[in-house]
Amino acid sequence: MLSESLIERFQSLLDEARAAGEPDPEAMNVATQDADGRLSSRMVLLKGFDARGFVFYTNTHSRKGRALAAHPAAALCVHWKHLREGVQVRAEGVIEAVTAAEADAYFATRPRGSQIGAWASDQSQEMPSRFTFEERIAEFDKTFDGRDVPRPPHWSGYRIKPDRIEFWFGARFRLHERELHELVDGQWRMAYLFP
Ligand SMILES: Cc1cc2nc3c(=O)[nH]c(=O)nc-3n(C[C@H](O)[C@H](O)[C@H](O)COP(=O)(O)O)c2cc1C
Repeated sequence: MLSESLIERFQSLLDEARAAGEPDPEAMNVATQDADGRLSSRMVLLKGFDARGFVFYTNTHSRKGRALAAHPAAALCVHWKHLREGVQVRAEGVIEAVTAAEADAYFATRPRGSQIGAWASDQSQEMPSRFTFEERIAEFDKTFDGRDVPRPPHWSGYRIKPDRIEFWFGARFRLHERELHELVDGQWRMAYLFP
């Protein structure tokens, strides 16, 4: 669990990044490791944050989903270029799936086009042609015509539960500040790192 002060720290920086006009403040890079030990990373959107960690949503059959099934741990990185002199936040930890109720609640808030897309996209699989995707969209549009689109069983959220989080504050003349917070024996410990 994140401490109150770490939650407050991240939340207030995120709010500040929004206020500073950061174009995509919730965009974060997430790195995973697959069953063969191969690393990969991609951007996703942060959709929830609290004492338990950082939540994003995706297709659980995607490349990242398969990697997380084999190796339930991830590292995230956020860069807010327009905030102060630039701020980076990194976090690492184990992954847990969000509950079905949590995923349902978030899925229900998505625009209908995105909901249909979640059914139509076989994320990360090879696609014979763009037309195949359009056909699948039309097919699911018809299937769910006149009713709410349910959450696909292969679409859900993951929570990164950090045991390590670092705040990097840019500064002129390379005097960047790095604050590392690590969970050691159930207690958060803070250390400054050389930049
Ligand atoms: C700014 C940005 C935000 C994105 N957000 C998400 C997201 O929240 N969930 C998602 O599944 N893919 C998202 N994507 C697409 C992913 O980067 C990626 O292409 C996709 O999830 C497939 O990744 P994978 O093959 O590693 O599983 C986003 C891409 C960008 C550029």
